[in-house]
Amino acid sequence: MTSATVGFGLVPELACNVVRFKVFKCNNNASVEFVNMTTTKQKLTHRTWTKDGYFISTDPALIPIAELNTVFASDLFYWADALPEDVMRETLENSLCFGMYESPPAAPATSSTGPSETIQPKLIGFARCITDFTTFLYLTDVYVDPKMQGKGLGAWLIKCVQEVIEAMPHLRRSMLFTSSWEKSVPFYEKLMGMSVLECKRPAEGEKGGGVAVMQMKGPAFPDALR
Ligand SMILES: CC(C)(COP(=O)(O)OP(=O)(O)OC[C@H]1O[C@@H](n2cnc3c(N)ncnc32)[C@H](O)[C@@H]1OP(=O)(O)O)[C@@H](O)C(=O)NCCC(=O)NCCS
Repeated sequence: MTSATVGFGLVPELACNVVRFKVFKCNNNASVEFVNMTTTKQKLTHRTWTKDGYFISTDPALIPIAELNTVFASDLFYWADALPEDVMRETLENSLCFGMYESPPAAPATSSTGPSETIQPKLIGFARCITDFTTFLYLTDVYVDPKMQGKGLGAWLIKCVQEVIEAMPHLRRSMLFTSSWEKSVPFYEKLMGMSVLECKRPAEGEKGGGVAVMQMKGPAFPDALR
């Protein structure tokens, strides 16, 4: 039986807090065939990792914007400032964000007090990748709550970022820029295998300072540039 396609349409589908659209093709026999249109971005923004009472999620809808803005405004983020809430929301939705949270306590099995409350998990760390989800990725805005540092959480966060990067078959390169050589260069060399591409090292005996552009080549890094 031959069938000529005579129409296309979009049907909204609610899944994982996002509305996805399934495309349907309508042929001359009036039958409808659904085509799955899940994009790489949709897949990558719904990853979760759990460990020891913490979890990491790439779902931007989970990020408490006011709390993250407090971190952006703090001395911890010496490279950034707070953003207007709507601008921050758009920034997060256009990035691949890794929010790290304390797992909320398990909800009681039954509740006699009406509808169950939604518990907002506490944000304790963050990393943001500016990316086209395919060929290029720029890592920035990495932090772990100072009260939680030194427990291996930063290493875990970066390993999750690395896992996603390594699964991008068309990636040419991932990069980052840092103006804190001492803090960042050894951290990313060790945890991600990044190497310094361009740098201005801190002067002899100088604490802080120095800038570095770091990169890691992806599987689609052009041979001509190797
Ligand atoms: C960098 C940061 C995310 C690390 O988080 P963390 O949870 O303390 O890291 P971990 O406990 O997993 O430590 C991972 C490794 O990095 C090293 N490390 C951690 N912080 C470091 C720092 N500031 N400078 C150099 N090395 C550091 C640790 O010694 C550890 O190495 P080890 O395994 O040999 O002991 C955290 O210190 C932070 O939020 N810093 C402020 C924000 C910042 O500067 N971010 C960007 C630069 S990385």
